[in-house]
Amino acid sequence: MTVFADYAPWYDLLYQDKDYAAETAFVEARLRDCGVASGKLLDLGCGTGLHALAFARNGWSVAGIDLSHEMIASAKARAAKAGLSIPFRQGDACETGPERDFDAVVSLFHVASYQTSRDALVAMFRTAYAALKPDGVFLFDYWYGGAVLAQGVETRVKVIEQAPLRLTRIAQSDHDERAAAVTVNYTLFCEDTKNATIRRVDEAHHMRYWFPFEIDAALAASGFQPAAHAAWLTQDAPNLKNWAAYAVARKSVVP
Ligand SMILES: C[S@@+](CC[C@H](N)C(=O)[O-])C[C@H]1O[C@@H](n2cnc3c(N)ncnc32)[C@H](O)[C@@H]1O
Repeated sequence: MTVFADYAPWYDLLYQDKDYAAETAFVEARLRDCGVASGKLLDLGCGTGLHALAFARNGWSVAGIDLSHEMIASAKARAAKAGLSIPFRQGDACETGPERDFDAVVSLFHVASYQTSRDALVAMFRTAYAALKPDGVFLFDYWYGGAVLAQGVETRVKVIEQAPLRLTRIAQSDHDERAAAVTVNYTLFCEDTKNATIRRVDEAHHMRYWFPFEIDAALAASGFQPAAHAAWLTQDAPNLKNWAAYAVARKSVVP
């Protein structure tokens, strides 16, 4: 069973406050800055497909891959309901698949930090490289190590009410600085207040934070030109206040 198996049904409710449309517009603007304004876009680690659908609605020809069967099932159902034809497939972003000739590859909401070794990160980047056209652009975000070390980890509780459901998520993290790794232990209490039922879900998510120089080395090992790095949803340098950074890299014409 992969991570997100039990978590998937609750994912959209947990992130109902996340502005996928605005994030998609931001990513499109950064792709446009690189001269990529339309065409084929691959979403690596697409989850339940919320970015993918937003890109498709904006005219991109989108495909999505995710490791989790449950997340892909949810993405497929969402696309079918919206009447959008998006090929979603279950698969490992660290294994090069049949996808080719994409203008852009994106990997959003920390997928790169779910890759907990340099080899896995390089493998994921190679998948993006293989999928892109020459001069295609790869944009992805990651946990920025400087901010994680500056802020440290803390226990977080999130409560979401959507009657009759009440969801309480406790995120308790273990930080291993020597391995640049954080294990986030999620406990979800999923209550149906109408039927007076409660279900507990436990999942451990193993994360790796990265520094731009490590990302650049992994990109170079995968054939990409050096990346530009910035704090998520800004064009400013990654900073100690923002855990999320993103990188934009171009596929070299000659690997
Ligand atoms: C926090 S979720 C983000 C999902 C989606 N991109 C979004 O923005 O909502 C991280 C996703 O990465 C996926 N993932 C992690 N490692 C992966 C891998 N090696 N290959 C494919 N998907 C992966 C997980 O299954 C999960 O759906």
